[in-house]
Amino acid sequence: MLTGAGVSTESGIPDYRGPETARRARNPIRFAEFVRDEAGRQRYWARSFIGWPRMASARPNPGHEALAALQTRDRLTALVTQNVDRLHRKAGSNDEVELHGALAEVICLACRRLSSRAMLQDRLHALNPGFGDDSVAQAPDGDADLEDVEDFVVARCLHCEGELKPHVVFFGESVPRERVHRAREAVDAADALLVVGSSLVVYSGFRFVKQAARAGIPVAILNLGPTRGDELATLKVEANAGQFLPELVARLS
Ligand SMILES: NC(=O)c1ccc[n+]([C@@H]2O[C@H](COP(=O)([O-])OP(=O)(O)OC[C@H]3O[C@@H](n4cnc5c(N)ncnc54)[C@H](O)[C@@H]3O)[C@@H](O)[C@H]2O)c1
Ligand SMILES: [Zn+2]
Repeated sequence: MLTGAGVSTESGIPDYRGPETARRARNPIRFAEFVRDEAGRQRYWARSFIGWPRMASARPNPGHEALAALQTRDRLTALVTQNVDRLHRKAGSNDEVELHGALAEVICLACRRLSSRAMLQDRLHALNPGFGDDSVAQAPDGDADLEDVEDFVVARCLHCEGELKPHVVFFGESVPRERVHRAREAVDAADALLVVGSSLVVYSGFRFVKQAARAGIPVAILNLGPTRGDELATLKVEANAGQFLPELVARLS
């Protein structure tokens, strides 16, 4: 199973390329800019500070729960996700391959230590009392639109004072080799690949559809709207993941 942002829209986390979001122009920060540009980093963390509570409090929906149930019943041998929201884990899935990492973790760019995003939020609160109390607009990755970021105080690594970055793959970064390898092996070993809620525009997910198609492994796609994998799919279903997946589980049991 390969999942994307569409599996989480019913949990209130917007996708990038769904029917609702196509209009909204987004310009996510690229890795090089994050590393190089102090103001860019400050803007990123200020927005993330505002957006985090919504991301942290999102609950898994029946789609995530159905996939966790399939895993428990050994119908699903591997779960690979492009999402960074940890909702599969909150629904009880384990051992998922998080291709793009997770916003719940933070990495120090200097010493590479991982720490918790929730803990960082407390530190940011203490450093920026009252910041953003009246901003609202939300973006897909727990980002928010706001002004007055020049005053925002960014926190540094508690161990080495290094720069902190969310432990997710930014545009301009590549997916760690080990994760790609695990996902590739899982696809190789599978009877079929099911894709849920992904436009497959991002290559890091699309490559597994190509791999399956090349190996003659059937590909089924459950997605609202077109995907880049449609021509390679044996089966395409246009339906809401949160409604369709529980029905699928019910029929299999
Ligand atoms: N929840 C998250 O963690 C999240 C959210 C937004 C973006 N991202 C990141 O951005 C990239 C987005 O690529 P992507 O392919 O995952 O997403 P995408 O936004 O490109 O595509 C999502 C697809 O899901 C469809 N969809 C929306 N709601 C659906 C539903 N209820 N049922 C079925 N289909 C539905 C949309 O029409 C769209 O085609 C990824 O790299 C991901 O890391 C993550
Ligand atoms: Zn450090």
